[in-house]
Parts: sequence; C-alpha cells; structure tokens
Amino acid sequence: MPQLPPPAFHDPRHHIKIFHGDCLEILAALPAASIDLIFADPPYFLSNGGITCHAGRMVSVNKGEWDRSRGAAENHEFNTAWLAACQRVLKPDGSIWVSGTSHVIHSVGFAMQQLGFKLLNDISWVKPNPPPNLSCRYFTHATETIIWAARDKKSRHKFNYKLMRQMAGGKQMKSVWEILPPSAEEKRFGKHPAQKPLALIERILLASSAEGDLVLDPFLGSGTSALASLRRSRHCLGIEAESISFDLTLRRICSDLVHVEISLSCSQFSLDLFSDPVDRSISTKMSAALTAKLVRRERYYYFVGSLRREVIYSAPADSLEDAWRKFTLSSQSSTQVMFIIKTETEIYLKDGT
Ligand SMILES: C[S@@+](CC[C@H](N)C(=O)[O-])C[C@H]1O[C@@H](n2cnc3c(N)ncnc32)[C@H](O)[C@@H]1O
Repeated sequence: MPQLPPPAFHDPRHHIKIFHGDCLEILAALPAASIDLIFADPPYFLSNGGITCHAGRMVSVNKGEWDRSRGAAENHEFNTAWLAACQRVLKPDGSIWVSGTSHVIHSVGFAMQQLGFKLLNDISWVKPNPPPNLSCRYFTHATETIIWAARDKKSRHKFNYKLMRQMAGGKQMKSVWEILPPSAEEKRFGKHPAQKPLALIERILLASSAEGDLVLDPFLGSGTSALASLRRSRHCLGIEAESISFDLTLRRICSDLVHVEISLSCSQFSLDLFSDPVDRSISTKMSAALTAKLVRRERYYYFVGSLRREVIYSAPADSLEDAWRKFTLSSQSSTQVMFIIKTETEIYLKDGT
C-alpha cells in the first residue's frame, strides 16, 4: 500500500484532516474499511464552453480545467476508479452519497451497479430559484440528483429515521429536498463555482451518520462537508487537488473554528488555534510565517448574548464603533449583549504547499 502523505491541514482537537492532492492517490493510501460515511461531489464534466444565466447576466458554465469532459468512456473510467477506491475504504456498514447532474450521474449510478454497491435512494435536490434556460429549448434545470448507496449488498447501513421524520414535521421524509443554494454569507470567504449549501450536507450527515463518525469527502472543493462535519460533531477527512479551493477551505474552517470555540465555551473562553501540530498563529512561530504567504487577514467582532450565552451576532469591522453600528442595524439589535469579542485572524500558507 502506498504511504499516506502528511495532511496539509490537521486539527486533532476537532478531528479535521485535509489532504492537498489527487484523491486517487490519497484514497489508495488510506486503510481499508476505515470510513463511516462518504459525501462526494465529483467533477460534473459540464465545462465545455456552454452558457447559463447568473444574476440576470449571460455567463460561461466553465468551472475550471478539473471539470472538463474527457469523453464518455474516459469519464466513466474515472468515475469507476474513484468509486472503487471509496468502496475499499468504507466500513462494511458504511454508505456513500454522490451528487451530480445528468452530465455525470448516470455514469456514477452505472459504475455503482458494476461495483456491487447497494443503491438505497436517489434524492432530488430541488433549487427553488433556478436560473432561466437561455436557449428556450429545454425545461430550466432545477434539480440535482444525489445517489445514496451502501458499500455492498450485505451492508446494514445507518439511517436516523426518527430524526428525519421529526425534521419532516412528523411525516416520513420524502426523497425530494427543496434547499436553497449557498447564501452570500456562505460565500463570504470567496466563491467556488460548484459550492454546495451547508444545509444539504448537514442533512446528509444527520440522516446517515452518528456523532464521532468519520466522514470522507474526496472532492472537498470549498470545504462544505468539513464545515458540516465540524458543526455536527463528526470527524472529517477531506481531499482537494486545487490550491485555490484548498485556500478557500482553510479560510472557511478557521473562521468556523473561532465560532465553535466561542459558542462552546463562552464562559471559559478559549481559542485552541495554537496547539501543535496545527499552528495557525503567527505569534508563536514567526520564523515559519516569514517564509509563508499571507492568504487572509480579517478582524471580526462577536456579540455574545446575556440570556442566550452564545454568539448572537458577528460581523467583520475595522473598529468596535463600526461593529457596534452594524449590530444596532441588525435584526439582533434588541438582544441584550453580555460581552463582545474581537478576533484578528491571519492565515498563512507555508511556501511549497
Ligand atoms: C464539484 S467540486 C466540489 C464542491 C464542494 N462540494 C463544495 O461544496 O465546495 C469538485 C472539486 O473536486 C476537485 N477535484 C477534481 N478532481 C480531483 C481529484 N482527482 N482529486 C481531488 N480533488 C479533485 C476540484 O478541484 C473541485 O474543487
């Protein structure tokens, strides 16, 4: 078995490991039967010069080189290879969710049948406000499919039936999920062309895993499944090939770690951003920072409520006055504030990563 390279990001306290590289190489080096749940949002192979409509403007659908089609046969070969690699690392009762549009999902489904996965459901993720179809020769594309499958025919997969029923208002949850695309807030650290909404992945984790389970995402993108895992107390192992997406993931995770620490321990406030081997501070290791690239700098203010001891409002601001002004204009302005925390974050990527 090939040797697993060190993760490019590792937070042992919150059990998040992110590898920067090709998922086929990393998956081959992971131990067999070690993962509880996989969420995979692979290349859709739709970046071939088409156009779509975004915010009322005609824009290219090209998402990047990673999304370019290599032809039906090669695309299917790739899908079969990474799905087989995922199947090897899944625990016997583990399951996998794969999202896609018609460009890729039929190949994914067929590869799963060929590999002997047990198909459980195909979810239709309905987008309430889809972009109009500019050619007026098709229905407007308003759904994506997410296939849910267990490792093999013998698997006894996890399904948190009661919770799903409760979330569906006391009725059995349907396989049609209406969920808004990622909000501007979810994209505040930068845009990924294929970013999934947190709500979608959180529901997937809640449906088919337990707290403390290990979740793998071989195509991490902007890190949505790592964030969802952090918020839902699952452990996460993510893989992403592109540096620009990897940077975005780091920015989103570091910001969320601040939120989690404040929410969990606002009376004994502690930010565990300094523990080795993850050193995200510049103060403790200046020499490392000097040979690193600054990828993010921000000042944030967190308002902690006196009745609800949690962060009730947060905003980037240059000064306390500026933050207070924003707070007074927010929907939380009538809530009593117990204290305000200012954080200054600088994220450096070491040269060569
Ligand atoms: C559809 S996007 C995933 C988006 C993600 N779900 C999110 O919410 O941000 C697919 C991602 O897979 C990455 N990717 C493509 N091929 C890869 C490979 N062989 N190994 C690892 N990552 C890959 C791309 O760079 C891209 O960021």
